[in-house]
Amino acid sequence: MPPPFERHVFVCTNRRPDGHPKGCCATKGGEEVRAAFKEELDKRGLKRSMRANAAGCVDTCSFGVSVVVYPEGTWYGGVKVEDVPTIVEEHLVQGRPVERLLMPFNKKAER
Ligand code: FES
Repeated sequence: MPPPFERHVFVCTNRRPDGHPKGCCATKGGEEVRAAFKEELDKRGLKRSMRANAAGCVDTCSFGVSVVVYPEGTWYGGVKVEDVPTIVEEHLVQGRPVERLLMPFNKKAER
């Protein structure tokens, strides 16, 4: 399926210099999380309808690794490689956001 994709995942892979006060998602595993999304989508035969892209800083650094899923505009924080299969299965495939990984402001916005 050509764009627009059914779901589009943006994973922050921003890297800041060591010691930067804001930190960055790259040192928390952003690049590995993005690779895991790509691999999981490929493994499930979804890569033509859903896409995972690297993103720069999305300004939620303290919650990193930051992941945003569109078209819903769902924001996940503290995402680890081991969370990726759950997000793909529960959210991307079944359409149910993974509550335990939602960023705090996202939870408030939905209630
Ligand atoms: S560095 Fe990832 S959200 Fe800012």
